[in-house]
Amino acid sequence: MSAVWTCFMFIIASTIGVEDSLYQIDFQQLFQSVELNLNTDADETSRYAPWSFKPVCTQTLPSVGSELCVYTNATFANGRGISIFTTTQIAEQTTTLPPFNDRDVLSPLLNTDSGAWYTQPISNKGIGMFAKRPLRRGDVIVATTPVLVAYSENLLSPAERERYLQVAIHQLPASTREAYLNLTTVHGNPEILMQDIAAANTFAIQLHGQKHLAAFPEPSRINHDCAPNAQFHIDTATLTHYVRAVRPIPPDEEISIAYTNPLDTYAQRQRYLRQSFGFECTCRRCRRGGSGDDALDELNALQASLGDWTAESKASVAQAERLIKLYQDQGLDGYLDPAYCHAALMYSSVGSVKGARKYVDLAVDAIELRLGSYADQDDLGVWKEMRRDPSKHWSWKARKKQSRAELKPKPKL
Ligand SMILES: *[C@@H]1O[C@H](CO)[C@@H](O)[C@H](O)[C@H]1NC(C)=O
Ligand SMILES: *[C@@H]1O[C@H](CO)[C@@H](O)[C@H](O)[C@H]1NC(C)=O
Repeated sequence: MSAVWTCFMFIIASTIGVEDSLYQIDFQQLFQSVELNLNTDADETSRYAPWSFKPVCTQTLPSVGSELCVYTNATFANGRGISIFTTTQIAEQTTTLPPFNDRDVLSPLLNTDSGAWYTQPISNKGIGMFAKRPLRRGDVIVATTPVLVAYSENLLSPAERERYLQVAIHQLPASTREAYLNLTTVHGNPEILMQDIAAANTFAIQLHGQKHLAAFPEPSRINHDCAPNAQFHIDTATLTHYVRAVRPIPPDEEISIAYTNPLDTYAQRQRYLRQSFGFECTCRRCRRGGSGDDALDELNALQASLGDWTAESKASVAQAERLIKLYQDQGLDGYLDPAYCHAALMYSSVGSVKGARKYVDLAVDAIELRLGSYADQDDLGVWKEMRRDPSKHWSWKARKKQSRAELKPKPKL
């Protein structure tokens, strides 16, 4: 039953990205800021290619088994620049990624004003991002490379870490540096400004199996909503953060993404947002408070019923349609893939080729929209195989007995 399993795998994967995006800052450890010691001697630059400056390194950190160094390429991605604070080995591996070697892999939309958005201050929410033109589901709103990537560690003292992050930001081109320094903070503590900005604005990414925090200034302007009209995914092979619309967005509507898993309960979402980002969730779903969880309960009950393939199963086409409507009514347009998966299997199970194909197409689109390059190609292959010939799929007519149509022997699962 790999296809049912797939649906649930995707739900679990939906928390990717924003989890643990915070440096744990222990204020007891704060020292005085340390003086910078920058290596900006122009004669030396080509010696460190592809880095623009001599790497600035910590001592060996025993639990990492290596030192961490600041590596900056000041012309990366059409002049935006990038600073990476990581191990020598990971830095070297990163320079083998396509964007360091082949300019053509970088989308022409990258780091440019796509004409899809503008930013504007909003009362008590800082700055927000708004649609400049009508957007359709699937449209790329903004695609960016990170300006700072930092090894996720809790080994350096805040003052030490601050020193390296200061070097990292200082070595970037002036406009990139300004874009970073313009971002909001969590704690408002100027002595640890660089990591305070990182705490408020970074997304978690994996570089060679190791968690790093990455700052993308433009998408950092996008505020949170538990029923977001946009969604992001990060393609680590091209180091690109994509934000795409998940439903039609009219001009001047604020663009939003979820900073937490919108399928969590009200209390879980509130706790996570308070602890990690220091704000109280006031989006429409949060304003309903705990009573908004009723819809989640119904959603989970429907999914449990549709996932029941025993002879006693009460699963029906009506339940599958209800599940889709429930996601849409809750504003969870970006999270529809499990509902479409269930609908595809349900229609297949009563022998409807048309229904199965319709919902497989929608499921594949929804999976690719939500996960981008993280989508499991093997799983997508299984769905596409089912699209070609639903009658060969294990779910085909598996529930035919329950429909009004004539009884047929149940195929083996
Ligand atoms: C920075 O990386 C680019 C590729 O994006 C490369 O062409 C350039 O030479 C690098 N800069 C330095 C100083 O090596
Ligand atoms: C930084 O913020 C100022 C004031 O809001 C703005 O004028 C400037 O364009 C911003 N700079 C960058 C690089 O985003």
